[in-house]
Amino acid sequence: MCGIIGYTGQEPAKDILINGLKQLEYRGYDSAGIAVLDPKTGIVLKKKTGKVEELAKAASEDSTDATCGIGHTRWATHGGVTEANAHPHRQGNVTICHNGIIENYKELTTEYGLKNSLKSETDTEVVAALLDKFYEGNPFKTIKKVVDLLAGSFALCIIFDDQPGKIFAIRNVSPMVAASFEGGSIIASDLTAVINFSKKYFVVPEYHVLELSQEGIKVQDLKGRTVEPEILEVNWDITSAQKGGYPHYMLKEINEQPEAIERTVSPRVSDGLPYLEEDGIDDEVLANLKDIVIVACGTAMHAGMVGKSLIETKLRIPVTVEIASEFRYKDPIIDSSTLTIVVSQSGETIDTLEALRLAKQKGSKVLSIVNVKGSTIARESDYVLYTHAGPEIAVASTKAYTVQIAAMYIFAARLGLVKGVMSEDEAREFMARLSGVGELMQKTIEASDDIRRIANHIKNAPDVFYIGRGIDYTLSLEASLKLKEISYIHSEAYAAGELKHGTIALIAEQVPVIAIATEEHVYAKVISNVREVKSRGAYVILICPEGKVENKEVCDKQIFIPQVDSTFGVFATAVILQLIAYYTSDAKGLDVDKPRNLAKSVTVE
Ligand code: M6R
Repeated sequence: MCGIIGYTGQEPAKDILINGLKQLEYRGYDSAGIAVLDPKTGIVLKKKTGKVEELAKAASEDSTDATCGIGHTRWATHGGVTEANAHPHRQGNVTICHNGIIENYKELTTEYGLKNSLKSETDTEVVAALLDKFYEGNPFKTIKKVVDLLAGSFALCIIFDDQPGKIFAIRNVSPMVAASFEGGSIIASDLTAVINFSKKYFVVPEYHVLELSQEGIKVQDLKGRTVEPEILEVNWDITSAQKGGYPHYMLKEINEQPEAIERTVSPRVSDGLPYLEEDGIDDEVLANLKDIVIVACGTAMHAGMVGKSLIETKLRIPVTVEIASEFRYKDPIIDSSTLTIVVSQSGETIDTLEALRLAKQKGSKVLSIVNVKGSTIARESDYVLYTHAGPEIAVASTKAYTVQIAAMYIFAARLGLVKGVMSEDEAREFMARLSGVGELMQKTIEASDDIRRIANHIKNAPDVFYIGRGIDYTLSLEASLKLKEISYIHSEAYAAGELKHGTIALIAEQVPVIAIATEEHVYAKVISNVREVKSRGAYVILICPEGKVENKEVCDKQIFIPQVDSTFGVFATAVILQLIAYYTSDAKGLDVDKPRNLAKSVTVE
C-alpha cells in the first residue's frame, strides 16, 4: 500500500513526480506529497490531503526547476489522514518517503529519545529522525545502521540535504523497481511510474543500498560490495496502463479480458495439449502431488475457489482453499506431498507472501499464479505460472481474476494428463474450449445494455443478495465482494440452499436477489430456491443459459449467458457480474477506480 517514487535527472522533477504519483495512485489515495532538492534553496516540500490532483493544484504555485526529488501517495496506517502525517517526512537534514510498516517505531522513539522532535503520528518519521541523528556525511553507513534497527517492512527513498542530485533507497518486503536511462534514474513502487523512462528495469534487491544519480544507479549490499542487479524488460507500454478512451480503468479492464485470456492461454497450448514446460513446471512435481492447497486473498482467493471446483470435479484430487491471513497463523496440515498454489495479481500481498514462506518451511513445493513479473511472490516460488493480464490499475480486480481462473484451468488440464485422469483427447477438447471462452466473453460485453438497466434498478437498494450452487456459488462470492467494494451497497453471497437456514429472514419486498443458475444438474434446485425468495417479495434477477426462459413467478429480469458447459460458462458469467458492479457504482456517481478506504496492493497484514 502507498506508492513511492524518486527521480533524479536533467528535467524539472516536480511534474515528473506528480505524473508518476498519478500512475501509482491506485496504491493509496488519502494524501500525497513531494519534496525536491533545489541546490540553491534547499528542500521544497509540498503535501496535501486528498487525491494527487489536490497536490498537483497546490504544487502548481511553486516555481522550482530542481531536478531531483521524491514523492508519495498514502494509504494511512499510522495516524489519521492529515497533512502532518502525509509523506515526505523531514527531520533535520533528511527527507524520506516510506511504504510499509515499522513495527518497532514506538520502542525506537523511546530508546533514542525522539518524542519531542516528531511532528506527526507516523512510524515513518521515526526513521527520518534516526537517519538524521546518525548522519555524519556517509549515507551508506547511516542507512545501514538505521535499517539494522528496524523491524517490519519498508521501501524507503531518502534525500540528504548535502547530497545534491542523489536519492538513496533501500527496501525490505515492500516492493520497488528502478531504472537508469540517458541522463537520469528513477525508482518507484511499481513499473507504471517507471515505464515512461525505460522499458529495462530491475527489481530492487532487499537490504541493498541504492544511490541514484544522473549518471546511473549504484547498488551495494550491506557489506559495501557492488552488485549488478538482473535487468528485466517489460513487455507492455504505458498505453496499457492508461484509460485508452474508457471513462474508467475498470471498464477498460473488463473489456480487455478476451485478449488477456488469449495471451495467457495460447502460449500454453502445444499440439492442442496443455503445455507448461516453458514455464519450468515439470511433470514430476504434478505426478507426485497427493493434494493441493490454494492460498490467496480477496478476489484471488475466489479465483482459487473456481480452481478447486474444477480440479475436484474433473480430477478427483482433493483441494482446499485457504484465506492467506488465516493460513499463516494456523499451523496448516501440509507436507512435501502437498502442492501449494498461491494466487496473486500483484505478487506483493503480504499475507499471501507469508503463507508462501510458511508452506515452503513445511516442505511443500509452491507454485504461484502471478500477474506482475519479478514480484516478490514470483521470485520466492518454486514455480511460477504468469498470467498475462497486463497492468491492472482499477482497485477492483476484474481481468486479473479471469486470467487466474484460466491459468488454473491450464494447470488442471496438464495435471489431469500427467495423472492419467484425462486422456489426450479429453485434454485437447478441454484446451480447445478454454481457448474459445474469450469469444463468449466478448459477446457478453457487447450485450451489456440490459446489465446497465439492472444496475440502475439496484443502485438505491440498501442490500443485495447473490445466490448460486456449486461453481455459481463461488462466482456469487466474488460478485458480492465486487459490488460492496465499489458501490458501497451491503451485499451477501449465499449457497442457494443455505439461505433458508437464517438469511432468508432478510428478504423483504423488492430486496434484489441475483441468482446464478448455470449448472444444469442443479438448475431445478436453484429455481426452487429462487421461488422461495420470490414468494417473499424479492426482486429476482436470474443469470442462466440461453433458452431457459422463466416466467414472472420466478424472476423479474433474466440475463442470459451463451449455452456452454458451466465449467467454461464461468468466464462469461464473471463478466456479467463485474458489469453489474461497475454500472451500479457508476450510476451512483462514485469513484469506481478508487473506492474509499482501499488500495490496490495490500502490503500490510
Ligand atoms: O494482488 P493480489 O491478487 O494478491 O490481491 C489480493 C486482494 O487484495 C485483491 O484481489 C482484492 O480483493 C481486490 N481488490 C478485489 O477487487
